[in-house]
Amino acid sequence: MTTRTQQIAAEINRSQKRLSKVIAITNQKGGVGKTSTTFNFAHYLNELGYRVAVVDLDGQGNLTELFFEPAVLNQYVHTAAVQFFTEEMNEFTPLSHPCGIDVIATQRNSHVLTNVDTQSIDAASLFYENVSRLAEDYDFVVLDTPPAPGIRTTAACASADYIFAPVLVDTFAISALEGVVNSVHAIGGLLDTELKLNGILINQLQDSTEETKHDYAELAAAIGEPLIPTAVRMSKPFRRAMRLGVPVWHLRSSGSEQRTSKEARKAYGEMSSRITEIPKKRIKAFNDYSRVVRMGLAQPEAQSQ
Ligand SMILES: Nc1ncnc2c1ncn2[C@@H]1O[C@H](COP(=O)(O)OP(=O)(O)O)[C@@H](O)[C@H]1O
Ligand SMILES: [Mg+2]
Repeated sequence: MTTRTQQIAAEINRSQKRLSKVIAITNQKGGVGKTSTTFNFAHYLNELGYRVAVVDLDGQGNLTELFFEPAVLNQYVHTAAVQFFTEEMNEFTPLSHPCGIDVIATQRNSHVLTNVDTQSIDAASLFYENVSRLAEDYDFVVLDTPPAPGIRTTAACASADYIFAPVLVDTFAISALEGVVNSVHAIGGLLDTELKLNGILINQLQDSTEETKHDYAELAAAIGEPLIPTAVRMSKPFRRAMRLGVPVWHLRSSGSEQRTSKEARKAYGEMSSRITEIPKKRIKAFNDYSRVVRMGLAQPEAQSQ
């Protein structure tokens, strides 16, 4: 083992105070990439050597299924995401994925979770208390949100230290962007604080026709400062990785996989750089950190569970 590898493993494993930051991935529209961004970004942070949990707040349970076969949920006793809205929790039993990420799961088509949106705002306060307690054990808790405004989205954004939104380049991109920005502002208004979007990621960028380039430029200008400079393109390797349940940069066999891998590492690195607690030099050395984590030399605490 090289000294560099040993150094990084030691750095990651050094007993440290957890950062305890909550990150919400949101957009009131469906199909824009909230779940896949949550999945990949959680993996990115995990491979930077941080202790990461994800919470699946969409009643479809898509995020959960990217990590586990549905049968796993019935096989093991575990904390379900809906409990965060219904009871005061002191202990959590997430499902632990072998990669080191802990998952607060949701069953496929969970009506009980979807019905949270019909409850009073008290459910959001309860969520805030519970997720803050959960975060004590982690560096980052990443929340995947449903494609609708409502109690769950409000609770997620209100609890978040950082908010990111994936958006698409299409005919309605500008009005969709206004929708995301306004809904985050409105939630801030409820709390009497100013909530802002820390990053807006252009996802599923389609082609490089003049029309798309024009739409992209227009959208990028409208986003302004929150724009994550590297867009994630619509690609087959991306879809393949999701089907295999691995982060997109793990596939590097073909040329197109390598391109997608590189681009994704860049985009998620730029998202990470918006998080002030993460040292820039760690992001620069992502490949080294990632190797150490994937070799199983880091996060002994996560792996012994
Ligand atoms: N960059 C991309 N390239 C190819 N497919 C993508 C990309 N981003 C997302 N997808 C696919 O698009 C679909 C919708 O994405 P998803 O993350 O589920 O969106 P949301 O959670 O906002 O509804 C999924 O099937 C996902 O795998
Ligand atoms: Mg989703």
